[in-house]
Amino acid sequence: MYARRNMEIVKTVAELKTLVAAFKDEKKTIGLVPTMGALHRGHASLVSRSVKENEVTVVSVFVNPTQFNDKNDLANYPRTLEADCQLLEGLGATVVFAPTPEEIYPEPDTRSFSYPPTDTVMEGAFRPGHFNGVCQIVSKLFMYVEPDRGYFGEKDFQQIAVIRRMAEDLKFGLEIVSCPIVREEDGLALSSRNTLLTADERQIAPAIYKALKESVAFSKTHTVEETKQMVVETINAVEGLEVQYYEIVDAKTLASITDWNMAEHVQGCITVFCGKTPIRLIDNINYK
Ligand code: PAF
Repeated sequence: MYARRNMEIVKTVAELKTLVAAFKDEKKTIGLVPTMGALHRGHASLVSRSVKENEVTVVSVFVNPTQFNDKNDLANYPRTLEADCQLLEGLGATVVFAPTPEEIYPEPDTRSFSYPPTDTVMEGAFRPGHFNGVCQIVSKLFMYVEPDRGYFGEKDFQQIAVIRRMAEDLKFGLEIVSCPIVREEDGLALSSRNTLLTADERQIAPAIYKALKESVAFSKTHTVEETKQMVVETINAVEGLEVQYYEIVDAKTLASITDWNMAEHVQGCITVFCGKTPIRLIDNINYK
């Protein structure tokens, strides 16, 4: 019955739950793709994967205020709902959930989540409260939709680790599917924030991934500390770029490592300020 229907766009939790209940009655598998909109090919890859792996795909488009610790960042976050819905319909999404902040937070959300070290290091340290806000919204979405699978992009590598911990802790019983970073041809990781870069900033931003990629070969003959230093110095040498942090961590716990043998899987996670505004760009790379 639902296979060829048009995509539904709903704004209230009640409408969303009614649709979800009908899908559950029909024993349909449900994939959830949480987004903050301003969709690009990175999001499209998550939606396409969900459409392939589930009978129903719910995409949420909600700029979640509780995960922003900077009012200007929240105000300037790009909002393009109409274009997003067109893209999602073309990709075969079943439902778009695009609520207002009042719909999601009729009362302030006082719940607090704590999954150290995943949520205390790196982004957790530089953006206090950020992951608490992410857990608030993602847990609500998991409760409303009760998906079989949730799809998240590996650009936000740390976010996936935190959400995995939360999903295990609260026994949501869904599969967290992590999807590879999608990049521009010049290597820049796709991000909704890229639209905020000036032409000049856009030119220099690919230097981030270039340094990360080069550091993989470099790491074969150098220590963790030397590799970190090489990445930071290479990027800081580009005028207009400034590394906020570069950490080489155990890919599962996100604890920093000092020796390549300290973890089975090792990831380098970076945040760089680009330009005068500045725009904060994040990226990551796998070492092993
Ligand atoms: O990754 C994002 O866009 C957001 O953090 C998420 C998961 C949609 C929660 O607001």
